[in-house]
Order: sequence, then C-alpha cells, then structure tokens
Amino acid sequence: MYKIIDKKRIPPVIETERLILRPFEPADAPAIFAYSSDPENTKYMLWEPNKTLKDTEKFISDEIEKYKTGRDYDYAFILKKTGALIGTGGAAVGEGIFARTAEIGYILDKRYWGNGYAPEAMRALSDYLFKEKGIRRIQAKHFIANPASGRVMEKIGMRYEGTFAEYLFARGAFQTVKMYAMIKDS
Ligand SMILES: CC(C)(COP(=O)(O)OP(=O)(O)OC[C@H]1O[C@@H](n2cnc3c(N)ncnc32)[C@H](O)[C@@H]1OP(=O)(O)O)[C@@H](O)C(=O)NCCC(=O)NCCS
Repeated sequence: MYKIIDKKRIPPVIETERLILRPFEPADAPAIFAYSSDPENTKYMLWEPNKTLKDTEKFISDEIEKYKTGRDYDYAFILKKTGALIGTGGAAVGEGIFARTAEIGYILDKRYWGNGYAPEAMRALSDYLFKEKGIRRIQAKHFIANPASGRVMEKIGMRYEGTFAEYLFARGAFQTVKMYAMIKDS
C-alpha cells in the first residue's frame, strides 16, 4: 500500500505502513554516512564506501540536482515510529526508448535489516510508478554474491530473468549480475 502525502515535493513524499519515503535533505548526511562508510554494509554496492562526511554531502547534493530531471525517484527512508533515517533507495526512469522503464536500487543501515523494510519501500514506489507515472517495466540487478537483494526483488513480485556474465566492472572486479523485472498488470 502507498499513499502520496506531499505532491508538491519532487519526487513526491510517499507513505507506507511503517515508512515515509521523502526526498533527500542536506541534514541527512550524518545518518547516511553512518552506513555508507561501513564496508560490510556497502560490500555489494556499485560504489566504494564513503570516506568522509564530505563524500556523503556530495552524494546528497548530486541527488538533489538529479531531481530536476524529473526522472529520479531516490528517497530517504524514514521509520515512522522513531523518525530515524534507516536507509535510502529509489528508481531511475530511463529516457527515449527507455522512458517507460525504471530501475530500482536500495540500501538499508544494517541495524534495520531483516524487517522487510526494503521490500515495503520498493513495493510502494513500484505501485506508484505503475499507477501514476506510466511505467511499464521495473527492473533491478544484483551481484551474484548478494542473494539477499534478490529476495527483496522476489518479495515485491519481480521475476528472475537471467544471469549476465561479467556485466560491469565495479569494486575492482568484473561483476556477474542477476536481473529481475516485473511488468505492469502481469
Ligand atoms: C538487501 C537488503 C536491502 C534487504 O533489506 P531488508 O529490509 O533487510 O529485506 P528483508 O527483511 O525482506 O530481507 C531480505 C533478505 O535479506 C537477508 N537478511 C535479512 N536479515 C539479515 C541480516 N540480519 N543479516 C544478513 N542478511 C539478512 C535474508 O536473505 C532475507 O531473505 P529472507 O527474508 O527470505 O530470509 C539489505 O540487506 C541491505 O541493505 N543490504 C546492503 C545493501 C544492498 O545489498 N543493497 C542491494 C544492492 S543490489
């Protein structure tokens, strides 16, 4: 379930059962730095861990700049019960022939793993993109060594489409990835 609770912000603020998904704010830097600087937490991400708070501040200002494209739906996940920022994630919508395709990604502070928060956030965002933004296909990829992320994809209704050998070079190695996707109304 999702509810749009502030349409004026870009991207709009989304409420789920336990979370608020809202656009990034400069003051989010310390909470995001806490886990994005942790090697265990970031082991399977495309990027290297943040080294200083400045790295995180730059990430946030780059994200805020990207909102201007109207194709970027990256959010801070706020736990309603406590107000804590517990992770980040979102969707990037493509351009041209990919304008009806979105790709999702997510990372949670490891203190909050195992509660179904990432599936809850991604299901809500996917429903919103399908119902209100004309998106037809939502896809996601994960490194083969990270099946926990594949579980998030399965839990929100994505189907496994295949394994792409040495699809990209990141974190000092060629990475084989698994691709999942879901199509609107099917
Ligand atoms: C992948 C991730 C987003 C899952 O989020 P989550 O909210 O914990 O999701 P869930 O609670 O539904 O758990 C999903 C799977 O994570 C794994 N998991 C859950 N709790 C865990 C824990 N404490 N330690 C290690 N793995 C755990 C399990 O495999 C679980 O599958 P299951 O429910 O079938 O047992 C989270 O583990 C994370 O942030 N990982 C680091 C960043 C990352 O890998 N992002 C994805 C890049 S493609």
